[in-house]
Amino acid sequence: MDKEVVWFIRQSIIYFMLGTLLGLIFLFFPDAVSQDGISLHVHMNLIGWMSMMIFGVGYHILPRFSGKPIYNRKMMTVQFWLASAGMAGMMAGWLLRSLAVPGGNGILLVFGTLMYVSIILFVYNMLRTVKGA
Ligand code: HEM
Ligand code: HEM
Repeated sequence: MDKEVVWFIRQSIIYFMLGTLLGLIFLFFPDAVSQDGISLHVHMNLIGWMSMMIFGVGYHILPRFSGKPIYNRKMMTVQFWLASAGMAGMMAGWLLRSLAVPGGNGILLVFGTLMYVSIILFVYNMLRTVKGA
């Protein structure tokens, strides 16, 4: 498997553990629930766990389904780093906001944008990979 695939799967499993742990903490300590805390939980699960697993499995499986190599491997590597930094930064942003520490908004804007660029790169690379398959 490509290094990026392995590390997407590893990160995904780590976010699954952290995201669901935060959900459990909400159940045990309802007073700790805040809108920013919920956003943190939601995105650790839906981007961290679900999307990262889909990125990793997508890069591995779609070229095999389409019988063609990944359209652009370099783009995959760039996308891996953007998504990894994007998710970690978004977590930090929501964490700071939920603790009312200043700076969370700016961090969210920067790393949310990185994450979005990574999504565009993934979409483009996968569309080109399956084109004409
Ligand atoms: C052990 C597993 C989990 C626990 C204990 C848990 C717990 C919670 C709790 C307590 C809330 C609501 C907070 C509130 O409004 O008071 C919540 C919200 C949410 N959770 Fe989880 N969760 C778990 C796993 C997941 C997973 C795996 C996902 C997604 C793949 C997920 C997606 C969401 C979403 C989208 C919301 C927000 C719903 C809304 O908009 O109101 N959760 N979770
Ligand atoms: C570039 C990527 C993304 C960014 C920057 C982003 C940002 C945001 C922001 C700012 C909010 C509102 C939080 C608030 O109420 O203060 C939000 C809510 C939400 N997002 Fe995302 N998001 C992204 C990707 C996704 C993806 C891929 C999913 C699902 C697969 C998702 C699911 C949700 C859900 C379910 C909510 C509502 C949570 C709630 O009940 O409070 N987001 N997102």
